[in-house]
Amino acid sequence: MGKVISLVNQKGGVGKTTTSINLSSALGHLGKKVLLIDLDPQSNSTTGLGLNKADISKSIYDVITHSCDIRDAIIKTKFKNLSIIPSMIYLSGAEIELIQTASKESNFVIGDQLKMQIDLIRDRYDYILIDCPPALGVLTTNALAASDSVLIPVQCEYYSLEGVTQLLNTILLTQSKINPKLDIEGVLLTMLDGRTLVGLEVVEEKDDMVKINFWMHSILYGMQTQSATIIYVLYNYKCRF
Ligand SMILES: Nc1ncnc2c1ncn2[C@@H]1O[C@H](COP(=O)(O)OP(=O)(O)O)[C@@H](O)[C@H]1O
Ligand SMILES: [Mg+2]
Repeated sequence: MGKVISLVNQKGGVGKTTTSINLSSALGHLGKKVLLIDLDPQSNSTTGLGLNKADISKSIYDVITHSCDIRDAIIKTKFKNLSIIPSMIYLSGAEIELIQTASKESNFVIGDQLKMQIDLIRDRYDYILIDCPPALGVLTTNALAASDSVLIPVQCEYYSLEGVTQLLNTILLTQSKINPKLDIEGVLLTMLDGRTLVGLEVVEEKDDMVKINFWMHSILYGMQTQSATIIYVLYNYKCRF
């Protein structure tokens, strides 16, 4: 059974997509079968893995609105062992559509849509990663409901830790209401510039986080390409998998 990991942070520009692309391609390179689900209407993982939007006929929008079978939306990438379910900009309308359906159908539960579809293909993969949008709305709720764990990229800058508290509350709420098995995989500090005071202060804050059983690792500023290697080491030698 594949492990489902969501990359979540309601803040934009913190490294969710960069980590999703690097981690999924690194795991594929190691011989693991990997599926990356692009759940952000901005579609950066989709284009980042080299897909041309003009060639996409089915996307995660069709999967989440149940207008296509998940198996029909999977596309093989040029990277070893790595497939993707792409995103398109009209995914941004899915949230309103799901809310409208819920108001019409009394037994319709918002949040279950992605999990129901992922359950059909879980056994085909070792890892299914979900690159989430920068919001804690219906799409991210769907991701959290479908996941075994969350990986939280946090940029080493001034306001970043304030958002993490809000995110942790959302995770606690999801655990109590929708998905009791949801675990926190860890916090990944991104874009750390060790020459700045702010960067170092964020790193110091990690002591508080470690107390609640997080592992932490940091990706330095300008280290995008090497981050795959770092994450590879992290995931293999820290025995998280
Ligand atoms: N380690 C890094 N060093 C420098 N720039 C980075 C690093 N990681 C990510 N970036 C850049 O930061 C921007 C935001 O990253 P992205 O992964 O798109 O964040 P998110 O998906 O959270 O919005 C992108 O332009 C990306 O290329
Ligand atoms: Mg992104």
